[in-house]
Amino acid sequence: MQFHLQKNDNQTKARAGKITTDHGEILTPIFMPVGTVGSVKAVNQQQLKSIVKAQIILGNTYHLYLRPGIEILEQAGGLHRFNGWDRPILTDSGGYQVFSLAGTRKIKEEGVIFQSHIDGSRHLFSPENVMDTQRSIGADIIMAFDECPPAGCEYIYAKKSMQLTHRWLDRCIQQLAETEDKYGYTQNLFPIVQGSTFKDLRTESAQYIASKDAAGNAIGGLSVGEPEDKMYEFTELCCDNLPTDKPRYLMGVGTPWNILEGIALGVDMFDCVMPTRNGRNGMLFTTQGVINIRNKKWATDFSSIDEGFDCETSNFYSKAYLRHLFISGELLGGQLASLQNLSFYLWLVENARKHIIAGDFKSWKEAMVVKLKQRL
Ligand code: GUN
Repeated sequence: MQFHLQKNDNQTKARAGKITTDHGEILTPIFMPVGTVGSVKAVNQQQLKSIVKAQIILGNTYHLYLRPGIEILEQAGGLHRFNGWDRPILTDSGGYQVFSLAGTRKIKEEGVIFQSHIDGSRHLFSPENVMDTQRSIGADIIMAFDECPPAGCEYIYAKKSMQLTHRWLDRCIQQLAETEDKYGYTQNLFPIVQGSTFKDLRTESAQYIASKDAAGNAIGGLSVGEPEDKMYEFTELCCDNLPTDKPRYLMGVGTPWNILEGIALGVDMFDCVMPTRNGRNGMLFTTQGVINIRNKKWATDFSSIDEGFDCETSNFYSKAYLRHLFISGELLGGQLASLQNLSFYLWLVENARKHIIAGDFKSWKEAMVVKLKQRL
């Protein structure tokens, strides 16, 4: 994998770059739609390419390991062959899901023992077996196995947790060194900075992660319930301590304005379930602001979903029609909302990139943040 920095903004810390993987190029800054089980909910792979213009999607080790399971993924020849997505894929390591989803879990030096949310069966995730599982899934970018501590945790917990994440990282690196790519293309490990909302821990963690000289680096443990200004403060601190010549990925963030602020602080990659999850609940992100499409006020608004924005599908339809679909519980409603939101997120990062290259990113971003936060 290569990362080519094309432009550094001189008024903010934003960058425009290009990642080259064995499944093609990714222009940064980029937003990655989340396809937890190998499917971006309500949107098919052709729509992701032709309408959303997604360049890379996410999968999740926890979910794919439980279903369909590693044997089936290996027999298929990896996730790309299984789901028909031939562009880059990134898989999260499952640590985060084990912490956030499973009711009973036990964290030990060896790894995490957890119960499946499907049938309650017990499993162990360790740095070694999570690397093996990600080898079998076959993503282009694979995440280190980490512990994401809850927001507001005590300093001593955050410190021990960060140290455990660092020891697990060393075991991930070792395991990858001792095993081979399964499907003839390169898989790239991204380590994850932790350290909660403590400056000394975040600095130490970012420097430790930087010392591993990985293909790219991630910032975890943010957007977990801390105030927005803390999220920005710690994103900046991490970026400032991570290499400039490698892509930086802020995990699980966020709203459209979070993404613009993240870009201004030096982040290159983002993912979040928000455009799809909130879309299925009737929340639309548009170039004019946020819409709750279930609201009565849209019942007779026959203007298109996002006027002035060329989403190839959602804009064939009016707000009134989309509201009707939601009120009637029609599946098409969730699909159109997801298409609108994902297309908008990809439009947003594409335009951020254009403005970084043109040299007017800061003023564009400032005006955009105000506009996008409006509730229509
Ligand atoms: N997704 C969002 N935050 C995190 C994190 O801290 N770790 C991992 N592995 N995934 C995440």
